[in-house]
Amino acid sequence: MKNKKIYLSFSNQIQAAAALAINDDIVEFVQEERFNRKKMYRGFPYRSIKYLLSKYKINPKDINKIIYCYADKIYPKNEIKKNISLRIDEGLKQQQYNKIKYNQRLNSEIKLQKKLFSNANLFLKKFKLSKKKLICFDHHACHAASAFYFNNFKDEITFTCDGKGNYLSSAVWLYKGKKLKMKSFSTTFDSIGYFYGNITRVLGFTPEKHEGKVTGLAAYGKYKAIIKIFRNFFFVEEGKIKSIWSKYHIPWFAEKSDLPELFKLKKKYSDKDLASGVQKLLEEVICKWISENINIYKKKRVNISLAGGVFGNVKLIHEIKKLKKVDSLFIQPATGDAGLPLGGLKLLINKKSNLANTFLGSSYSNREVVNLLKKRNKKYRYISNVEEVLIDLFKRKKVVGFFKGRMEFGYRALCNRTILYHAKDRTVNKWLNKRLNRTEFMPFAPVTISSLAKKCFLNWKANDKTSKFMLSVYECSNFLKKKAPAVVHVDGTARPQVIDKADDPIMYQILENYFKKTGEVVLINTSFNNHEEPIVESPLDAIKSMSIKNVDNVIFNSSILI
Ligand SMILES: [Fe+2]
Repeated sequence: MKNKKIYLSFSNQIQAAAALAINDDIVEFVQEERFNRKKMYRGFPYRSIKYLLSKYKINPKDINKIIYCYADKIYPKNEIKKNISLRIDEGLKQQQYNKIKYNQRLNSEIKLQKKLFSNANLFLKKFKLSKKKLICFDHHACHAASAFYFNNFKDEITFTCDGKGNYLSSAVWLYKGKKLKMKSFSTTFDSIGYFYGNITRVLGFTPEKHEGKVTGLAAYGKYKAIIKIFRNFFFVEEGKIKSIWSKYHIPWFAEKSDLPELFKLKKKYSDKDLASGVQKLLEEVICKWISENINIYKKKRVNISLAGGVFGNVKLIHEIKKLKKVDSLFIQPATGDAGLPLGGLKLLINKKSNLANTFLGSSYSNREVVNLLKKRNKKYRYISNVEEVLIDLFKRKKVVGFFKGRMEFGYRALCNRTILYHAKDRTVNKWLNKRLNRTEFMPFAPVTISSLAKKCFLNWKANDKTSKFMLSVYECSNFLKKKAPAVVHVDGTARPQVIDKADDPIMYQILENYFKKTGEVVLINTSFNNHEEPIVESPLDAIKSMSIKNVDNVIFNSSILI
């Protein structure tokens, strides 16, 4: 690795991850949860960095730059500090929470930042990584870079929005003077991500983890009554998201004792109506925020790129795409904090490049798989015609774990660590979710190929990158509704993965052949994991998952069947 430019980047809060660039090419990007099997892991990405150094035989002293991506400073910068003080003063006028409470809140953020920096320094020492080579980048700058540098737009606005990160919750970015620059921001004191998270908790789920369940549930509810209350808490002013603090909303993840009135709403409104209300509020506020900023900075129809956990909301993306001022839209698939190390590398490299797929992690050869199977006394056989095998297995109601190539990054399994099943049986959502111990309100997602997508999804366009990474919902055609009822939600939408031949030729071929032999246009594609565990990383994880009957069979690298 000598004489090569090596950059290592990492983040050490929720969804800890690390990435590696060699001579300005990002060669690897891995999430700690996949190695240590702790979903959404918060902490230092120890195993990820160990894996990167070992795979590329890197001596730590040969690394040119180490990039810390969670925050650039422990304390808030002056501009942010001023904004927070102003918002605290305004907030105090609006409701009953006292200054002590707000200072506690601010101090808890400072305490977290201190802890994260000291944890990072400790582990750098452990890896003999020199502190002199360390660069610290802002959280939202990393989010912004993770979207901006991976699209091919010539002109765009980048939006970042999350619960919290380095004292901010949303920001607007423009590329000027060969630099990505923040044009405006809202702090964590105006975080709509917190509000969505608090409703997630009211509904009995975990914030920062189960927001997707709320999005799925929203389709069953009616928002009209509850939205009238929720609209009092958030608004957009001069291109910024602002919140009004009240007995229903405070800007942090609240316990029942913090916001008893919010939790009482559950008595008056059904879970589905609350979910529908918060989803509608999010859509209204974010769409207004985006539209206003397009008016402020571009005054014309424009391309936008998005990053930050809030944009993991597939229904929100669907609404943003409908905005008249939005031309094309790009989202980086690891929208949450997992994507920070990708952005950190790109901020330093400062060059755009294409993101064909999410396959930037570990892989296992057939020999490694077979050695493991022998060691574990597992029966296996080699196969040559995957689609024939799938047809036979599905006929016999077998659920298939599909494991191939390099580990994916991001929230979704995109066919390298995936569970496959046919989509003709509507009841699959009930029995397979039960079997996988999942309580999902959205049906399983479909996977198809670009040549069939138009038949299945209304207004699907070949240049729409959101379907490439399963990041948006689409209205389904009547053809699909009849053909594959299992993947259609109650509101007539689905959140597909559409594969281009160039991005994943193996899976494209399998799905094309499957269609030719059966006439079926999609398959169900859901993440290959145990209940509340991350997606499987290794063949051993896959075998363990099969042993607890998540799946009936596993196909490794399209050539080994157990
Ligand atoms: Fe974030």
